[in-house]
Amino acid sequence: PAAHRLAVRGDLLDFVAAPAWGATDTPAVRFDRDHWLLIEHGHIVGRQASEPDASWAREDHAGRLILPGFIDTHVHCPQIEVLGSYGTELLDWLERYTFPAERAFADPARSRAGAELFLDALLAHGTTSAVVFPTVHKVSAEALLEGAQARGMRLITGKVLMDRHAPDGLRDDVVQAELDCRDLIARFHGQDRLAYAVTVRFAPTSTPEQLAMAGRLCREDASLYMQTHVAENRAEVEWVRQLFPEARSYLDVYERAGLLHERAVLAHGIWLDEADKRLLQDRSAQIAHSPSSNLFLGSGLFDWRGAPFNVSLASDVGGGTSLNLLRNAQDAYKIQALRGVRLTAWVALHASTRGAAEALRLGDEIGGLSAGQTADVCVWDWAVGDVAQARDAVARELHERVFAWMTLADERNLRAVYVAGRRVLHA
Ligand code: GUN
Ligand code: ZN
Repeated sequence: PAAHRLAVRGDLLDFVAAPAWGATDTPAVRFDRDHWLLIEHGHIVGRQASEPDASWAREDHAGRLILPGFIDTHVHCPQIEVLGSYGTELLDWLERYTFPAERAFADPARSRAGAELFLDALLAHGTTSAVVFPTVHKVSAEALLEGAQARGMRLITGKVLMDRHAPDGLRDDVVQAELDCRDLIARFHGQDRLAYAVTVRFAPTSTPEQLAMAGRLCREDASLYMQTHVAENRAEVEWVRQLFPEARSYLDVYERAGLLHERAVLAHGIWLDEADKRLLQDRSAQIAHSPSSNLFLGSGLFDWRGAPFNVSLASDVGGGTSLNLLRNAQDAYKIQALRGVRLTAWVALHASTRGAAEALRLGDEIGGLSAGQTADVCVWDWAVGDVAQARDAVARELHERVFAWMTLADERNLRAVYVAGRRVLHA
C-alpha cells in the first residue's frame, strides 16, 4: 500500500500551460530545482524547498529529474512480439506480422500473460497511463483492464472491433461485438482508474453496420472514449476511398458514424486535408502522433505545427519501435527537422504529459505535479554514462539541458516510478 505520507526529492519539472511553438523560454514550464514533492494517500498534496518533518517517509533523488509519468495515447498490447519486423509498409505489415501475432490472444492465458508483460513494460519505460489497443478478443481487453486495475494504473482500452478484411480468428460480428462491449463497459468503465474506449481498428476492417453500432455506443454514453487509426499511409487512404465512396474523406467515414467527439483519440493523421483538420478541431478530438512508427513503417512526416487540433505523443508499438516516449520525442524532433520546423523539448514533453491529459479530459488527475493530482511520477537521471554526463555538464540554460536530456536519454535513465504514490520500479 502507498505510504501514508511520502516526500520525494529532486528537480521537479511539469507544465502549467501549453508552451508556444519555438519558445525555449516560456512561463508554461514550471521547474523547481531541488524540491520535495509531497504525496499523501496516493495524491500530490504540495511541493516545498525545505526538508519535510519526520512524519514524512523520504526518498531522496537529489540531482535527478522528476516528471509526471508519461501518457502514451496510442499503443498495442499484443504487438510486443512484432517489434522490429523487417521490410514492409502498413498494409503488408498488418497481414504478414501483426494479424498472426494477434490471433494468439484468443487464448485467455496468452491474453493474461501478454497484458502482464505489457503493463510492466509500460511502467519500466516511464509510462504510467495509456490508451491501449488489445485484440478483437474480449478476453484480451479483460486481461488488460484487470491487470491495470491490479496495478492502480489509469488505463483506457476496449475490445477491438473488426468484422471484415481480417483473417479467420480475428473477426467479430456486429451483434456479438455489441454484447461484448456492453458487458465490458458495465463491468469496467469508471471503475477505479479504468475507462472504456470504443475501439474501431480502422475503417477498412469494420462494415458500415459495425461503425454505426460503435457510433450508437458513443452517443449513448458521452463519457466513453473512442480510439482508432486515421490517414496513416497513402495506400490505406486510397483503400478507404474505394470502400467508402460516399465519404468526403477518410476522417469523414468516422464523422458520419458519429465517432468524432472530445474523447476520440485517432492515431497518425498524416494525410489529412484542411477540412479534416478543422473538423478534428471542431470536435475537440485528438491525434495521437506516433513518430517512431511513422518513420519505421515509412508512413510519412506529420505536420504537427500546422495542426489546429490537440496533438499528443504516442509510441504505437509495434509499428513504433520503442515504448519509451523519450525515444518517440527524439523521432518527433527529427520528423519536424525534415519539415524545416524545430520542436522544442517543451512542446514534446507537454504532449507526453499535461497536453495528453487535458486532451483526454483527465487534466485534474494526471499529467502534472500539482496538489490534487494523482501521484503518477517518474524519476530520471539527467545523464547516464560519460558522454551524456559531459554534455549535461556544459548546458547553460534550462531548455538546453532538458532538450539534451530528451535527445540522449532513454529508459536506462529511469530510476523510480510511482503509481498513485506507490513505488513500482526500483532501478
Ligand atoms: N492501422 C490499423 N491497424 C493498425 C496497427 O495495428 N498499427 C498501425 N500502426 N496502424 C494500423
Ligand atoms: Zn496503431
